[in-house]
Amino acid sequence: MSKIVVVLAALAAASAVAASGGRDDLTDEDRVRVAKVTAPTKDFSGPEAFETLPAGAGTTRKLINADIFSHPSANLTFEGRQQFLVGNGLFRKDWVSSPSSTQASDGLGPMFNARSCQGCHTKDGRGTVPGFDPLERGDTVALLLRLSVPPDTDEQRQQLASGHLPLVPEPVYGLQLQNFSVAGVPSEGRLEIDYAPVTVQLNGGESATLMKPTYRIEDLGYGPMREDVQISPRIAQPMIGLGLLEAIHPADILANANADHGDGISGRPNWVHDLRTGKRTLGRFNWKASQPTVEQQSAAAFSNDMGLSNPLFPAHDGECTQAQPGCQNKPHGAQPHLGEHEVPAELMDFVTTYSVNLAVPQRRDVSDARVLAGKKLFYQANCVACHVPKYVTRRDAARQEHRFQLIWPYTDMLLHDMGEGLADKVSEHDASGSEWRTPPLWGIGLTRTVNPNATWLHDGRARSLLEAVLWHGGEAQAARDRVVAMTPDERADLIRFLESL
Ligand code: HEC
Ligand code: HEC
Repeated sequence: MSKIVVVLAALAAASAVAASGGRDDLTDEDRVRVAKVTAPTKDFSGPEAFETLPAGAGTTRKLINADIFSHPSANLTFEGRQQFLVGNGLFRKDWVSSPSSTQASDGLGPMFNARSCQGCHTKDGRGTVPGFDPLERGDTVALLLRLSVPPDTDEQRQQLASGHLPLVPEPVYGLQLQNFSVAGVPSEGRLEIDYAPVTVQLNGGESATLMKPTYRIEDLGYGPMREDVQISPRIAQPMIGLGLLEAIHPADILANANADHGDGISGRPNWVHDLRTGKRTLGRFNWKASQPTVEQQSAAAFSNDMGLSNPLFPAHDGECTQAQPGCQNKPHGAQPHLGEHEVPAELMDFVTTYSVNLAVPQRRDVSDARVLAGKKLFYQANCVACHVPKYVTRRDAARQEHRFQLIWPYTDMLLHDMGEGLADKVSEHDASGSEWRTPPLWGIGLTRTVNPNATWLHDGRARSLLEAVLWHGGEAQAARDRVVAMTPDERADLIRFLESL
C-alpha cells in the first residue's frame, strides 16, 4: 500500500471516531452505522425506520392497558424472565416491622415512607401527588422530601467536594423526611402543600392555569428543623427502560454536554459516587441524576424509603440519626442463615434484574399526519436539544438484552438550569437547586393509562403535558416561548406527538 493510501485510511477512521463521539466499544464500521442511524431526521413526511420500537428488540407489543409498564423486555431470556418474576414479587411485596411471624418480609423501618416499592411507583409508573383540591388531599406517600442544610464543617465541605456526600443532611432529620415509623418510634412529620393558580396566556386566545406549589412540614416528631433547611420534593418516577438508559455509552452522553445546541442550551453531567467501584462516575438516575446505577438507586430506596439494610447500605436502622433517641437498635429483620442484611445480595439481584428490564411499550400512531406535524414542531421548537431522540446502546453492555439496540428515549441524561419557577434550593452532588436531568419521554403518552391520577415534572405539579411544557424556563425558556406562540392547532399537534410516545 502506498503511503498516501495509508494516511487517507487513517484520516477516514479518525473522522468516523469523531462522528460517534469516541466510543471504545465499536469497530470503525459500526461507528459509521451508528452515526448514520442516530443522526436527527430531516424528513417528517412519514415515520422513520424502527421508530415504532423505542426500546429496540426489548420493546413490548403487549395490549395497551393499565399493565402496560409492567411487562419484561421482549428480548429477555427464559432465565432472565424467571428472575424478573421473582423481582416483581419483591417489588410489590409489603414489608412489615420486626419482630414478626412472617420472617421473610420483616425489617421495615424503624422509619419509612412506604411499605413496598410499588407503593410509590404505582403499577411501575409514576407516583401520585396528594390531590390538588384540598378536600381530597390524602397521603403524600409517593412524594418524597429531600432535606439539606449548608455545610458548616471542613469535613462536610471535603465530603461534598469528593462526592462522598450528595448533600449535607439536616442534623436531626437526615437526608429525607420519613412520614411513617414502627410502633414506639415517633414519625418525623407530614408534608403539606398549598397550590396557587397562575394563568398563562397563549397565542390564539387560549390560556392555561399552572398550579404553583408551596411546601411546609407539619407535626415534626423531633423538634424544630434547622432554620436554614432546604426541602426538595420529588415524585416517584416511571420504571420503564432503565437498563437501556444504563447501557448508553458515556461518550455519547458527554458528547452532548460539549455540543452547541443554540438557544444558550448546554447540558452538564452530574458526577456522583459509585459505591461498588468507590469512584466518581456519571450520574444517570433520579430527577437530578444523583445515582450512577439502577442497582445503587434501588438499594438506596430499600434503605431510605423502607429502612431495609442491604449490601450497599448496611445500616439496619436506615435513616435514623444519632439525634433521634429510641430509633436506633430496634429489632431488625436480618436472618443469620441468609447473611447479615435484611435484603441479602441474592434478593437485591432479583430486584435489580426486574428494575432494569421493565419494557418500554411500542409507539402508537407514528404515521398519523397530525402526530408527524407535532414531531416536526418538536424538532423546530428545539425540544431535541435536551430531549435527544435516539442512541445505539453499548455493544459491551453488562446484560445481553441491552446490547447494541437502537433506542428512542428523548433525553440527553444531562442537567439543565430550568429557571427559578422549577428551582428548589437543594443541590445534590454537582446539580444545583435549579438544575434537573432531562427526563426520558418514552411511554409518556401512556402515563394515565397506567395511573389515572398521575401528573408530571419532578414534584408532580403539572396536571397535563402542556402544563409541564409551560413550566420550562432557564435554558428551556426559548423552547417554551415557541410553544406559547404556536397556533392552537400546532400546540394540539405537539401534544399529540407527545401522547404517541
Ligand atoms: C416512598 C416512595 C418510594 C418508594 C417506596 C420507592 N421509590 Fe423509587 N423513587 C421514588 C422517588 C421519589 C424517586 C426519585 C428520587 C429523586 O429524584 O431523588 C425514585 C426513583 C427511583 C429510581 C430511578 C428512576 C429513574 O428514572 O431515574 C429507581 C430505579 C427506583 N426508584 C427504584 C425503586 C425500588 C427498587 C424501590 C423498592 C426497593 C423503590 N424505588 C421504592 C420514590 C420511591
Ligand atoms: C433545556 C433543556 C430542555 C428543553 C429545551 C426542553 N426540555 Fe422538556 N424537560 C427538561 C427537563 C430538565 C425537565 C424536567 C423538569 C422538572 O421536572 O422540573 C423536562 C420535562 C419535560 C416534560 C415532563 C416529563 C416528566 O417526566 O414529567 C415534558 C412533557 C417535556 N419536558 C417536553 C418538552 C417539550 C415539548 C419541549 C420543547 C417545546 C421541551 N421539553 C424542551 C429539559 C428540557
